[in-house]
Amino acid sequence: MIGDKKVLFSGMQATGNLTLGNYLGALQNWVKLSDEYECFYSVVDLHSITVRQDPAELRKRARMLLTLYIAAGLDPEKNCIYYQSHVSGHAELAWILNCFTYMGELNRMTQFKDKAAKHADNINAGLFTYPVLMAADILLYQADVVPVGIDQMQHLEITRDIAQRFNGIYGDVFTIPEAYVGKSGAKIMSLQNPEKKMSKSDENPNASIYLMDDPDTIIRKFKRAVTDSMAQIVYSNEQPGVKNLLDIYCACTGKTPDEAVREFDGKGYGDLKLAVGESVVSVLRPLQERYADLSKDKAYIDGIIKENAEKANYYATKTLRKVQKKVGFPERIR
Ligand code: TYM
Repeated sequence: MIGDKKVLFSGMQATGNLTLGNYLGALQNWVKLSDEYECFYSVVDLHSITVRQDPAELRKRARMLLTLYIAAGLDPEKNCIYYQSHVSGHAELAWILNCFTYMGELNRMTQFKDKAAKHADNINAGLFTYPVLMAADILLYQADVVPVGIDQMQHLEITRDIAQRFNGIYGDVFTIPEAYVGKSGAKIMSLQNPEKKMSKSDENPNASIYLMDDPDTIIRKFKRAVTDSMAQIVYSNEQPGVKNLLDIYCACTGKTPDEAVREFDGKGYGDLKLAVGESVVSVLRPLQERYADLSKDKAYIDGIIKENAEKANYYATKTLRKVQKKVGFPERIR
């Protein structure tokens, strides 16, 4: 707790172009929850270097992402929006937690297996211990809740396991976090292959809607979305392409799948694709406009970066000192 509020932590990587999946699975829920909780939203640049990055590009994308958090509707006066690399406590706690995490646990992580297969020439130790850094992010702020898409659930589970193990040895040091997964949008699939999640790193640009896509591009990509030959609009696992379109529609409009299916009763796939495309345009347009305005104001963004890093450091250090004392590191002499 901070004051009378529970704590929320979440983060996103500043690699590649953010997709509609990132927005509907995470960012949109962050905004919904932001009044209720004391929130920490991090641009997780330490995680990004587990795969090779161009330094100038990483710096540029990190700033874009931080600005986008604000453009999406997170008030930086109330929410702590900051770069992970500006708070050294993340790396320090990750080291300690590494010593409380088993190789066997990390070996089971499906994201590690996927990424190792994709980057076979660079299977580094950071990629392997990535979930431990994520646990450190969350536990450092004593987060109660962590809004994420379904693909991050396994990392949330291991975070809870590590926290429980540590608490079992040293007493109640860490709050045990809960994942928050939205009703719709928690797993947005590729528009070209609805068996696969929509991903920043997909090579086919028609597979993903990027947050900065213009309206014509969005409508065009939805028109090309892969469906099926069953010619019926129902919400079913048998029709993953149609289900994904309905999911996107529901996440953008706040409707339930039942309501959406009723609305498209008697209509064809062409109508569905157009309506979904328009619902996405109406969600992304205001975000893009705010982003364009905000990114012009360098001094304002710089101020937020500085102030919020100080705030994050304050809370991070509080937890870190407690943990360091528990494991037996010598006290600092002042
Ligand atoms: P990242 O950057 O891959 O994704 C950011 C958020 O977007 C969600 N997401 C999706 N949701 C629905 N459908 C999709 N197709 C889709 N693609 C991505 C993700 O679930 C995530 O919530 N390891 C994390 C970043 C991280 C983090 C943390 C998150 C680092 N430390 C601590 C929470 C708490 C990641 O790579 O997310």
